[in-house]
Amino acid sequence: MLESLNPQPQDKILALIAMFRDDPRTDKIDLGVGVYKDATGLTPVMRAVKAAEKKLWEVETTKTYTGLAGEPAYNAAMVGLILGEGFSDRAASVATPGGTGAIRQALELIRMAAPKAKVWMSNPTWPNHPSIVKYLGMPAAEYRYFDAATRGVDFAGLMADLDGVAAGDAVLLHGCCHNPTGANLSQDQWDQVIALLQRKGAVPLVDLAYQGFGDGLDADAEATRKVAAAFPEVLIAASCSKNFGIYRERTGILIALTSPDRKAVVQGNLNFLNRQNYSFPPDHGARLVTMILEDPALTADWKAELEEVRQNMLSLRKQLADELRRATNSDRFDFVADHRGMFSRLGLTEEQVVTLREKHGIYMVGDSRINIAGLNAGTVPVLAAAIAQVAG
Ligand SMILES: Cc1ncc(COP(=O)(O)O)c(C=O)c1O
Repeated sequence: MLESLNPQPQDKILALIAMFRDDPRTDKIDLGVGVYKDATGLTPVMRAVKAAEKKLWEVETTKTYTGLAGEPAYNAAMVGLILGEGFSDRAASVATPGGTGAIRQALELIRMAAPKAKVWMSNPTWPNHPSIVKYLGMPAAEYRYFDAATRGVDFAGLMADLDGVAAGDAVLLHGCCHNPTGANLSQDQWDQVIALLQRKGAVPLVDLAYQGFGDGLDADAEATRKVAAAFPEVLIAASCSKNFGIYRERTGILIALTSPDRKAVVQGNLNFLNRQNYSFPPDHGARLVTMILEDPALTADWKAELEEVRQNMLSLRKQLADELRRATNSDRFDFVADHRGMFSRLGLTEEQVVTLREKHGIYMVGDSRINIAGLNAGTVPVLAAAIAQVAG
C-alpha cells in the first residue's frame, strides 16, 4: 500500500531552515522562519507564561480529558480577548491545536455546510491556506492583494476580484499583520471590503494569528470586531502561538458566529469535527492562556511584554527603512516602516534573494519575505548594505 505514495514537495520554509543550519558562516543572518526572536536571537518563554506554568504545576490535580470543545473558561477568555464584550450569545467555539488546527476545522465546517462554496484567498497568502484547501478538495479562488510597485495593498485589484464572490462563498481575510506581505488594509478600506462582501452575501473567515504584533491588542482586533458585527455568520481562526509565544503548545481557537438560536447546532458540529479529527484538543497551552487572562497581574505583565515585542519590531522597521534610505539613496524602501507584523515582502527578484543568500549569508523566503524580528541593531545595516548592493 505505502509503496504507492509519491514524495511530497518539500516545504520551502523548512528547506530554508535546513540550508541555514548547514551554512558554516558565522555571520549568517536568518530572516526566514516565522517566529519572534529578541535581540539575542532567542525566542523567549514570556514571563507570564513561566509564572502560570509554575502555578499550574502546583495546583493541577488531574490530567484527565477536557471537554470536546476545550475548557469553557479558555473559550470565553479568548472570545473576550478577540471580540470584546457582546458576542457570547452568538459565539460557538472550539479549542484547536494552534491556529492551523482552527483553519483546518473552519474549512471542514464550510465543506460540511456548503460543499460547493468557493474559498477566496488573497494572492499571496500564507502558503498553508491554499495547501489545506486543495487537500480538502474544496473549490478555491484568488483575489489580488499586493501591489508590487508600491509594496502596499492593490486595493483596486482586490475590490475588482472580490466583486466576483457569489452568495455563500467563504472569503479568507487576514485580521491583521498580513503574512507574507506585511501590507494591510486601512480601517476605511476594511469598511469598503465589508460593505462589498455584505452585498455579495459572503461568509468571512478571519485568520487572526498576530493579534498584538501590529498596532496593539485592541487595534489589531478592530477589523475582526467590525466583521463580527457586520455579518450574520463569521468564522474566526485565531492562534496563541505568537502573541503568547507558546508555538509548540499548539494553542488556538475556532469561533463560529451565528444567530443565538443556531448556536447549539453549530457548537455540536464543531464538537463533532474535533471528535473526528483528534477528539479532545490539547490543554496545556490553553490553560496557561486562561490563567493569564483571568489573573489581572499576569494579564498586565503579559500585555507589557507583548508591547515590548511589538515596539521592538516597530523600531527595527524604522531602523531598516532609515538604513535603506541611506544605503540606496532613495525612498523606495520606506514601505518597510509602514508595514505591520513580523513580515515584510521586500519586492526583490528570486535571483536577488539567491544572491543575498549565497554572497551575503542572508536568508529570506524566495518571495523576498523577511522576518523583521530576525534582525537586531547590528544586522540592520548589514542587510541594508547587502540589499543596496544587489538591488541598488
Ligand atoms: C497567517 C497565519 N495563520 C495561521 C498560522 C498558524 O499558526 P499556528 O498553527 O502555529 O498557531 C500562521 C503561522 O505561521 C500564520 O502565519
